[in-house]
Amino acid sequence: MSKELIFLGIESSCDETAASIVKEDKKGNVTILSNIVSSQIEEHKPFGGVVPELAARSHVEKIDTIIKKAVQKSGVVLENITGVAATAGPGLLVCLMVGMSAGKTIATFLNKPFLAINHLEGHALTPRLVGKVKFPYLLLLISGGHSQFLEVQGVNKYKRLGTTIDDALGEAFDKTAKILGIDFPGGPQIEEYAKLGNKNGFVLPKPILNKSGCNLSFAGLKTAVLHASKKIKDKQDKYDLAASFQFTINEILRVKCKKAMELFLSTNKKNKKNYFVIAGGVASNKTIRSNLQQVCKDMGFENIFPPANLCTDNAAMIAWAGIERYKKNLIDDTTFSARPRWPLDEKAPFLKGAGVDHS
Ligand code: KG4
Ligand code: ZN
Repeated sequence: MSKELIFLGIESSCDETAASIVKEDKKGNVTILSNIVSSQIEEHKPFGGVVPELAARSHVEKIDTIIKKAVQKSGVVLENITGVAATAGPGLLVCLMVGMSAGKTIATFLNKPFLAINHLEGHALTPRLVGKVKFPYLLLLISGGHSQFLEVQGVNKYKRLGTTIDDALGEAFDKTAKILGIDFPGGPQIEEYAKLGNKNGFVLPKPILNKSGCNLSFAGLKTAVLHASKKIKDKQDKYDLAASFQFTINEILRVKCKKAMELFLSTNKKNKKNYFVIAGGVASNKTIRSNLQQVCKDMGFENIFPPANLCTDNAAMIAWAGIERYKKNLIDDTTFSARPRWPLDEKAPFLKGAGVDHS
């Protein structure tokens, strides 16, 4: 029997200030004891995107209260935690430094281990926080800063199978929303508009759809949306464009996910079960979830889709990554510096969406 592990997780890589306490008991049962997320969306809205200095200042103002709330809600005495995990990258440098400094201070003061977590590893390990998923599995990470297919081989072991060669998917959703006059971040609102629109109202391109491999590209689609928007005459046209955009994205993902699954299967022939996992803010889109559920059925994969609140940025995934890394003895020093660029697969060649967050 292993020992009980309790981690404090801290997340401040972009515009969410978050803290969480996660516990794994001696039998391996995992419980999220608290998961506090404070979003800065309203503060950045007037600027149409995240303003780094404004975000950092807001983190500084809130971080202590958020950590205190997470500890109080969990019922855990801070002195009894096993360790502290804080996001160390990728993300905005000034924002990362706020959460890391708070985490380092608490760890030093309590004389507990400090773990510097890759935000993307937090997303990548979330399915193991919510279910008993074994390595390896195929992950599609779709957020505001990244869009990539990864083979998750183990803790700290990632192989990138494909990535966007230009914009991230969340960025494409947000830019389409901006063109339609929707406030930042417009992804969730595009989903609402699309419900009222005709998906065949506009014909949009599917960049690099027939290219081999599972790389993605969304820049051309965004430009096409901009051209199409010139034809908008009324609100219904806006709904139609949102529906056509979302439909096109789903078509692209359907084809590319199948290609990624084929690639995964070609090197994992002995797996008894094959899992497909989605993570990142865009993974909370309901049409994308049901579309990819069907793809999993067609390809014989079991789909593991974490609940929407664990797909978007949170600190429970950081605390959990802390527990997973602690069990592998992957403990860091408090001299660890923030890494604004930090791809999960360090050997894969640099491409824009492969580990640069929000820059
Ligand atoms: O993972 P996340 O919370 O933050 C990072 O980028 O790391 O993802 C935020 C992104 C934004 O681009 C947002 O518009 C998009 O996820 N998003 C959505 C939906 N909810 C959030 N995009 C499409 N449909 C949604 N329902
Ligand atoms: Zn994220």
